[in-house]
Amino acid sequence: MSCRHSPVSFLQLSCPLWAMKILLQLLAILRAIHWAHWTAHWKMKGEPFYGDHLLFDKLYTALGDEVDTLAEKIVGTYGSDAIQDMVVLNDAARFMAVHEVRSSGDLYRRALQMEDHLQKAIRLAYDAMKANGDLSLGMDDFLMSMANAHETHQYLLRQRLDSSPD
Ligand SMILES: [Fe+2]
Repeated sequence: MSCRHSPVSFLQLSCPLWAMKILLQLLAILRAIHWAHWTAHWKMKGEPFYGDHLLFDKLYTALGDEVDTLAEKIVGTYGSDAIQDMVVLNDAARFMAVHEVRSSGDLYRRALQMEDHLQKAIRLAYDAMKANGDLSLGMDDFLMSMANAHETHQYLLRQRLDSSPD
């Protein structure tokens, strides 16, 4: 089976190269969301400033360990050369730019859109690794736990958006 064609189709999920690329995309998304939530933490103002400041503190803080664990799992599975700094950085910047435009600069909407996107990326990574036979019990647990934690992020952000005036 060829692994060269884009975009990713269901059949291509069973290609080892695509499984690695999807995990690298997931890493870029996590780094972008970490960056975005941390920036939102600094930029909060108005009422209720302190509650929002703490909300985004909780959101970005959780991401540090997830980034580290995923990167180590990628290297453990595919080798050190799998992670190229500039590729991850560029992918993260593209992801941020898309959501910056879609949210019209609203930090809460941007955060929720990114979290929604992350859930799809986790699902894609899970399906790709499973189709490829690469889904270890540890990776299975990690992806499930991360999806669960970020469902809480989605809940917190939705509640905050529902309570804010349009
Ligand atoms: Fe802080």
